[in-house]
Amino acid sequence: MASRTIPDASKQCPVTFDHHSRDHADNYPKIYAELRETCPRAWSASYGGHWIATRYQDVLAIAQAKDSFTSDKTVDPVTGEVRGGNTIPSLSPYRLLPNESDSPEWEGIRTFLNRRFSPKTVEARRIQTRTWVNELIDRVIETGHIDFLEDFTNPLPGYVTMEIFGFPLSDWNRFADPAHRLIYLRQDDEGFAEAFANLDYFRQRVDEEIEDRRRSPRDDMLSMLANGEVDGAPLDRKRIQEISWQILAGGVDTTTALTANTLVHLGRHPEHRQRLIDEPELLPIACEEFVRYFSPVHGPARNAKADVDLDGWHFDKGDRVTLAYSSANRDPEVFEDPEEVKLDRFPNRHIGFGAGMHRCVGNNLARMMFQEMITGVLSRMPEYRIIEEGLRRYNSIGNINGWIHVPAEFTPGRKLG
Ligand code: HEM
Repeated sequence: MASRTIPDASKQCPVTFDHHSRDHADNYPKIYAELRETCPRAWSASYGGHWIATRYQDVLAIAQAKDSFTSDKTVDPVTGEVRGGNTIPSLSPYRLLPNESDSPEWEGIRTFLNRRFSPKTVEARRIQTRTWVNELIDRVIETGHIDFLEDFTNPLPGYVTMEIFGFPLSDWNRFADPAHRLIYLRQDDEGFAEAFANLDYFRQRVDEEIEDRRRSPRDDMLSMLANGEVDGAPLDRKRIQEISWQILAGGVDTTTALTANTLVHLGRHPEHRQRLIDEPELLPIACEEFVRYFSPVHGPARNAKADVDLDGWHFDKGDRVTLAYSSANRDPEVFEDPEEVKLDRFPNRHIGFGAGMHRCVGNNLARMMFQEMITGVLSRMPEYRIIEEGLRRYNSIGNINGWIHVPAEFTPGRKLG
């Protein structure tokens, strides 16, 4: 639990808090409820020291205060030390672009990406997504067993992401696997360094494909990156890799986590599952409630650009702060019965897709993939049973709140072919 420590004179409300700990993964709703109540603007000495914003209004205000806070990341060219960024601790010397950038660089890249993720572009991918959902279910439907993670919620966003990029589908797991591990492992876990090294393959493939697209452009994101311009200049190799890394990380793990959490929830609450089967038109509204309740992006970071006073909260220049979206989304000041899933909650002012300038560019795509995956499961294995003893959570949910294994059994059915 988050417990008070000896006060540091310079910071109000110091607590013992580690968002990458097992205790946090197991108890975060309780930890955040206690912080919101007793110490909503808390200071943790872990990972070099950082604030934790837990109330909705504070999280929103910081996310929107783009002149005062940044998620830009810098790397010292001499020591290689990484500073800032949108994770605590900083994840790697590679920036996630545009998430770990600031104006004016951010505007150019964001405008560039917006077109690729517009509602119309996303809608055009729905039929292909549905076909892949059915193909993935066909692979297991006669066996009566599925690991929702390995067999379904991981590959589907992987395929969609590969298609958006223009990579062969067969590459999906060589890219998705290291991204997935980097997100769920703690930096001191065995395997973290290896996952990091395995990203070299992704970077090498980006380089190869960019060369190819310069010679023969196609209608895909790699061609846009290879031949497009941001602010009147072509993108250099490093920025192309950093944008690609962001789309990979955004594309493959967040929707996976949302859908896996939802399938676990529906397995444990058959009355909710039945309601979604009986009222399929409720799914888009329920999707927002699952984003609120599970907040897959658990609590990204911001960094104070200068000394800042925000509604009585003082930040020194360089102070880091966790925006606990997962706490804000359960703030009783904003949500009635916040610890309950209400499938028809409306309106739902959740900030599970973020707020302010970095609000998720892929939110339409995430919703579409989620809807297709849940519809596929509810129509073809409606009475599935989660094998509770086989469930395995992420080692750390500090970046993304997800699962490593979600095994289930169901009555075998027929392939669609
Ligand atoms: C359920 C699924 C998803 C959730 C919950 C989610 C959530 C978020 C959140 C909370 C942020 C803001 C982070 C911050 O405040 O620092 C964000 C940013 C972003 N997301 Fe998503 N995301 C999801 C799916 C996706 C997908 C499918 C893509 C694209 C393939 C994507 C691409 C991005 C990008 C590029 C940004 C950075 C935007 C910017 O900095 O302007 N996300 N996402």
